[in-house]
Amino acid sequence: MQLCNIAKDIMSSIVRINGPAQVNGEITVPGDKSISHRAALLAAIANGASKITGFASSADCQATLDCIRKLGIPVQQSGGEVIIAGGGADGFQAAGSEPVHLWAGNSGSTIRMIAGLLAGSSLDSEIDGDPSLRRRPMRRIMSPLRLMGAQIEAREDNYPPLRIAGRPLRAIHYDSPVASAQIKTCVLMAGLGACGATVFTEPAQSRNHTELMLPEFGVSLTIDECGPGRRIVLEGGQQLRPVNYQVPGDLSSAAFFIAAALVAPGSSLAIKGVGLNPTRSGFLDVLDGLGGGIIRTNVRTSAGEPVGDLVAASSRLSCAGGATLLSGPVIANIIDEVPMLAVVATQVHGRLEVRGARELRIKESDRIRTVVEGITAMGGQIQEFDDGFAIEGPQRLVGARVSSHGDHRIAMAFAIAGLIANGTIEIDDADCAAVSFPEFYSTLERVMRN
Ligand code: S3P
Repeated sequence: MQLCNIAKDIMSSIVRINGPAQVNGEITVPGDKSISHRAALLAAIANGASKITGFASSADCQATLDCIRKLGIPVQQSGGEVIIAGGGADGFQAAGSEPVHLWAGNSGSTIRMIAGLLAGSSLDSEIDGDPSLRRRPMRRIMSPLRLMGAQIEAREDNYPPLRIAGRPLRAIHYDSPVASAQIKTCVLMAGLGACGATVFTEPAQSRNHTELMLPEFGVSLTIDECGPGRRIVLEGGQQLRPVNYQVPGDLSSAAFFIAAALVAPGSSLAIKGVGLNPTRSGFLDVLDGLGGGIIRTNVRTSAGEPVGDLVAASSRLSCAGGATLLSGPVIANIIDEVPMLAVVATQVHGRLEVRGARELRIKESDRIRTVVEGITAMGGQIQEFDDGFAIEGPQRLVGARVSSHGDHRIAMAFAIAGLIANGTIEIDDADCAAVSFPEFYSTLERVMRN
């Protein structure tokens, strides 16, 4: 397919982008992926039909809907509108013989969150995924689930496929060693059906969509501030009522276009209806701190989630005092935006260092390695650490062949790098962007010009 500024080779899934280019106009982004997973899973165990609008178009969220269907829960979907006829606390049913075979595709959120529901169900199930998902650690959810009495097995006791023999669970007090919203959500999903009060703490605040959404389904929980993270107490056995839920736009998808507008000279871009949850918006705060011109307007709250409109315009970015170190609790907040931030850092005056981010090595790809590889291929300089990287800018980037390693956020971050490069960037396996943002290249094509 030959688009105007973006050439897309359908057979080989290579995308070519000619830089330099700018972005101007107005866009929308797909519904939030994290929120869509949670809304679908909770709707599946609610008593009655929930309507979710603005549901994410992402392939990951389709995997969650497909799993729910395979568990005997009727799901109707028309564009971004999804109706899920929840079957209540014990509503999962096998259509054929057990174990029920589920497919999570590329989605760590699907497998880790649904495991919490499957563990306490009355079904035997097996859930698997693509080669990337098969490399992602599951012991982090298996450990708390086993403490709750779950029977769960994995390849090498850590990797998918997971085999789960559903059984009644008991509540636990769990101090998570990792600030991970996927672990937290898994434990809370299991805690919903467990006997007693589940207590969960985390070492730093991870995204809090689950805690904000449970009350929408009529579930009460208490949250105490304690140290850097928080303690959540959830009484098991509560019934969920169905909801009408509007999903906001995904800030993690908007992040690519915000970054593009800031770094590509002559750009100005408006993005409407984006989720601005403070446990997710650290990327905007980091860019503010670097001098990024991002205006937030029309900020309101919908189903407990802050939402607003954004305008980002090209800006001179610099580190105050010549250096910026990002480490500690902010890392969980910006975790999905770090690949994009690395590309931005090449255009920032000063040294930007990211540390304490070892979790990046176990995402859809080893995102420290894949970012280092991509920036180096484009002629940039980047120092790699076991737990992060440092970039001294500004740097000139040149067109190059970059591998996405099948990782959606790597493909999109380097597509944006193509706007500030001299020459043509070629991204292989670029279609993987559909994992979170199927409309990414067509949206970019619409707003970019050389
Ligand atoms: C997610 C949490 C994060 C994030 C992932 C989505 C979620 O993972 O990287 O893309 O929706 O809860 P961890 O919780 O494992 O850090």
